[in-house]
Amino acid sequence: MSRLVVVSNRMPLGDKPSGGLVVALKDTMEERGGLWVGITREDASFTGAEMPRSQGLENHPGGPFERKSCSIEASLYDDYYLGYANSVLWPLCHGRTDLLDLRLSFREAYLEVNRQLADALARELRPDDVVWVHDYHLFPLADALRRKGVFNPIGFFLHIPFPSSANVGALSNAGELAEWLSSYDLVGLQTNRDVASCLEVFRTLKESEFLMDGSVRYRDRTVDLKSFPIGIEASAFQKIAQNAEPLPRAAHGPQKLIIGAERLDYSKGLPHRFKAFGHLLETREELRGEVSFVQIASPTREDVQAYREIREQLEQLSGSVNGRFSDINYTPIQYINRMIDRNRLAGLYRHAQVGLVTPLADGMNLVAKEYVAAQDPSDPGVLVLSNFAGAAEQLGDHALTANPYDAAQMADCISQALSMERAERIERHSAMLENVLNEDVDWWASSFLRHLEDKSMGTDFLSLL
Ligand code: G6P
Repeated sequence: MSRLVVVSNRMPLGDKPSGGLVVALKDTMEERGGLWVGITREDASFTGAEMPRSQGLENHPGGPFERKSCSIEASLYDDYYLGYANSVLWPLCHGRTDLLDLRLSFREAYLEVNRQLADALARELRPDDVVWVHDYHLFPLADALRRKGVFNPIGFFLHIPFPSSANVGALSNAGELAEWLSSYDLVGLQTNRDVASCLEVFRTLKESEFLMDGSVRYRDRTVDLKSFPIGIEASAFQKIAQNAEPLPRAAHGPQKLIIGAERLDYSKGLPHRFKAFGHLLETREELRGEVSFVQIASPTREDVQAYREIREQLEQLSGSVNGRFSDINYTPIQYINRMIDRNRLAGLYRHAQVGLVTPLADGMNLVAKEYVAAQDPSDPGVLVLSNFAGAAEQLGDHALTANPYDAAQMADCISQALSMERAERIERHSAMLENVLNEDVDWWASSFLRHLEDKSMGTDFLSLL
């Protein structure tokens, strides 16, 4: 029987804010079992005596699936994680080429970490393991594994948007992204738009051949590219929200509550959102004192300059909107720059009349799906969703779609959401809920693994599906 081996940079260890990848994979691994391999930054104070580096993987016992980590020396880790992954690939994939920090040392560290991980993993793998690699930290991992003679089926899933080929051209070694991907058997992306961008990038390589079944042949390998929109553990989240305590009115003051929740990332469009909310209060006096906006923005990647800047910008913007429209009993924006517990979050979603999910670029955005799952179907809130979130491919027809760059249009959208009749709210919500429940995280993992199985005839995947 095959064993599922999931590989990602971050894995659930400790209580750091985790983001969509860890939430989705944790549900997948709890359901299926297997091994999850992650990467940890070796503590600088650590002498190395008890745990020699590059000697394989460290075990983290406990829980329904196995967890092992590959420990990377701190300064190498920083050049890989803060450097190439989050100061090159993340801005690139989110359309922010202005933020690219191209340094040779970053790219070398990125390749080196992938090589070290491949080395440790190659020693761990059994012949019938199925390997599923996740996200932009590990684009070159299959290439590194193949070079070490690993022939197992290897799938890859990118949780964030695939960059446009014009933007990929801004990299120092533009061709290598597609080359790395060609070592996988299956590359899963969030949306059809991402598949189109990925094909476009392959088109820039002369040796690519496009086959009738949609796969791409590059040199001696064939890779399938397909969208698998990620989902949430919808019915479980629904139950958490149902059981959440009602919010005491005093907790949020006015009648109506708008909620936003994400990592404090520049891709999420938070300054645009704060400005749109300011515009709403500016242009619709009757809403002052009647609606408050709770924004949870958990700190993330604070050693990267662009993240420190966005934080300052938000503090300034929330201060200016609040300074202008607050009253003794009224704080328009409640800006919470901390991580909050998922159960509490589910309750906040349920009791908020409007959920704002308005990123400038986002792979999927699971908050959109969680907000839908958390609603009371007989009196649901309204999701305001940007077209730049991957979730718009599934939910865009029934959410109110907003253009995050246009403050006046977004303010109109919020105002329409606040005054929407119950019948329309129910109609829109039930269509979205059906999608969120059907295409949940289990559906996502099964569809991906089934497809990988089709590509790798001969491996017995049955135990994984
Ligand atoms: C996004 C990425 C994940 C990442 C998460 C949290 O969801 O797709 O790969 O784990 O953000 O970011 P962090 O840098 O803290 O792992």
